[in-house]
Amino acid sequence: MPRKIDSLRRGEVPFHEPEVPELLARNAARLTFTLDVNALVDCEFLFVCVDTPPTYSGDADLSRVWTVVDELPDLEGRPILVMKSTVPVGTGEKVRHGLDQRGLSHVGYVSNPEFLAEGRAVRDFMKPDRVVVGAFETADGDAVAALYEDLAAPIVRTDVNSAEMIKLAANAFLMTRISFINEIANVCEATGADVVEVAEGIGLDHRLGSHFLRAGIGYGGSCFPKDSLALKQLASNSGYHFQLLSAVIEVNELQKRRVIAKLKRHLGALRGRKIALLGLAFKPNTDDMREAPSIVLASRLLAEGAEVRAWDPVVRNGGNLPRGVEVVDTVADAVDGADAAVIVTEWDELRDMASDDIRQAMANPLIIDGRNLLDPAAVRAAGFAYEGIGRRTLPTDVLLETHEREPELR
Ligand code: UDX
Repeated sequence: MPRKIDSLRRGEVPFHEPEVPELLARNAARLTFTLDVNALVDCEFLFVCVDTPPTYSGDADLSRVWTVVDELPDLEGRPILVMKSTVPVGTGEKVRHGLDQRGLSHVGYVSNPEFLAEGRAVRDFMKPDRVVVGAFETADGDAVAALYEDLAAPIVRTDVNSAEMIKLAANAFLMTRISFINEIANVCEATGADVVEVAEGIGLDHRLGSHFLRAGIGYGGSCFPKDSLALKQLASNSGYHFQLLSAVIEVNELQKRRVIAKLKRHLGALRGRKIALLGLAFKPNTDDMREAPSIVLASRLLAEGAEVRAWDPVVRNGGNLPRGVEVVDTVADAVDGADAAVIVTEWDELRDMASDDIRQAMANPLIIDGRNLLDPAAVRAAGFAYEGIGRRTLPTDVLLETHEREPELR
């Protein structure tokens, strides 16, 4: 943490997030970064933005939340502790109790969950679909709601437990949509339909909407995986088995691994095969690799005996990839001599990758498009074999080399 504070003081953002460096620079005179909690004594609002990673049991680890409560200085007036971190339902009540026990009954508590997505954090913050404010005391809720007045977003006023649940349920619903469309994609593959067209046809129904219907190799990131586990665990701690959410999580785990089966269908055994992984971040416009499908894919490929070369435009030094993966600086280096290229993250830099140069550089011009980024017809016309997720496969796409073909799904 001291290193992060130091870099922020220098005006350097210690992670990749568009627009944040400019925002910090514009407001430098109004921002103070400190490790001294006593510097906060006269603050009116104290936003808690700590992480709440999963523990071994699947519960959310609230130790950093408790550190905040334990270390709060003797605050004056009626300051309000505003919980931005994603926490299990019931946390606010426990924190309220903890504050009272510490003699901080005069400190208000408001749950104000954050819905921004990485890579578009500033935009999402400035133009939220809604602001959720859950309070024990109406006046505290009023004060926090007033902070957002200028954003012209609907403000949902509720109790603390419901505010906490809104955040968990919203994430769970988004994940459910992704796992749903991924299962539809898998059935499309087995039946000869095209999931991109199916998703378009579904999304135009105003009751359903088109968001979060992009089939791919599964969701990752710092929120979905941990928040789904936390909600599942929260339900089961309360005696309820959340079956649908359990299935959503399992579908996502299996989805990451389906690329391996696709590669085998084209290449046979993967031992000694050279595979290029294109994109490492869990999604574009971030350098975040937490729970990224690239990590699972790289591990599975290494376990199969493949040689793995990886490229990403912003993740430096391969992030937390398993040892044995060679990280290179350019797409051209990644695909040089490769038997297959797998698009793992839909970076813009990959949109034109189906070029003559790339085809000639590859030992075997096969693209497995884990994000349905490319136009299949254009890629095939450029001389590549192509397979997306839930898209029609042509007979010419397989059997590039002589090998035992596994039985087709019927
Ligand atoms: C998410 C929520 O969107 C946000 O509201 C919450 O505050 C934090 O968690 P984030 O993790 O930053 O945000 O990214 P998001 O854009 O939601 O994508 C999450 C994952 O889902 C990515 O791996 C992405 O590739 C995947 N995804 C998303 C799909 O596979 N298909 C889709 O249609 C949408």
